[in-house]
Amino acid sequence: MVTLGSRLTMMPGPELDLGRFSPWGRFRGYRREFDAIIGRLIATARADPELDRRNDILALMLQARYDDGAAMDAGAVADQLLTLLAAGHETTATTLAWTVERLRRHPEILARLVAEADEGGSQLRKATITEVQRSRPVVDLTGRKVRGDSLALGQWVVPRGYCIMVSIGLVHQDDSVFPNAGAFDPDRFVGVNPDTYSWVPFGGGTRRCIGAAFAAMEMDVVLRTLLRDFELAATREPDEGWHSRGVAWGGLAVVRRRKPTEGRAAV
Ligand code: HEM
Repeated sequence: MVTLGSRLTMMPGPELDLGRFSPWGRFRGYRREFDAIIGRLIATARADPELDRRNDILALMLQARYDDGAAMDAGAVADQLLTLLAAGHETTATTLAWTVERLRRHPEILARLVAEADEGGSQLRKATITEVQRSRPVVDLTGRKVRGDSLALGQWVVPRGYCIMVSIGLVHQDDSVFPNAGAFDPDRFVGVNPDTYSWVPFGGGTRRCIGAAFAAMEMDVVLRTLLRDFELAATREPDEGWHSRGVAWGGLAVVRRRKPTEGRAAV
């Protein structure tokens, strides 16, 4: 469903219903299956006498109330879970996987990060995540539809109803925007807030990713834990190539648990 859905977002939707064997019909079928699975999970959770003591996200949503006291219906719960999984988990996890891939190929930065984490610092780590998101953005495109009569964009005038796709990857690889863009260089962001018009892994404007701050916090905590508890095996292997994992574009990495004797600051 995620793989098909992410392809369909790149295409204009058909004006007519093309039937259940069309890609859109297949997607609706998957969505019905997804809703049925979530419906069963909800029924099991509601039957749990311990529900009010649970703090998993499904239990929290079932106990949540709108201002008028009403509970979320099953469709709303399913929508939120799908957002968390497809927009939230997949993107964050894949960015972290790229972080490991990049650090294994840059042992000098890795060593500085481990030392910084052991001393309780965070500046280089935050800059590293920013640089991973620049050099390996996991969402490559975002789009906008022209709603006004037309839109003047540089030398072009784009008519109403047209979609404009913005390539996040191309902006991030542009040497005129990020000098020496091909290099993995976290120091370019040390002590510097990235420019919100050129550093756009979370998109931009009013529809910028709503989970950006949460994802940044989560990636920082997970990377800090990885640096403290694991040894990322350095490698001279060529860079991982990009491939689609459905929503996001990812790669592979190898890690080992760090020896417990190694000194480090208390968390
Ligand atoms: C590293 C992690 C993430 C990346 C790279 C990412 C990337 C993006 C991008 C590129 C967009 C499109 C923005 C635009 O068109 O301007 C977006 C939108 C969105 N993201 Fe994320 N995202 C991440 C994490 C999350 C998380 C953790 C959540 C929720 C918990 C989330 C929920 C959403 C939602 C709901 C939208 C649609 C916002 C709207 O249309 O108003 N994302 N994200």
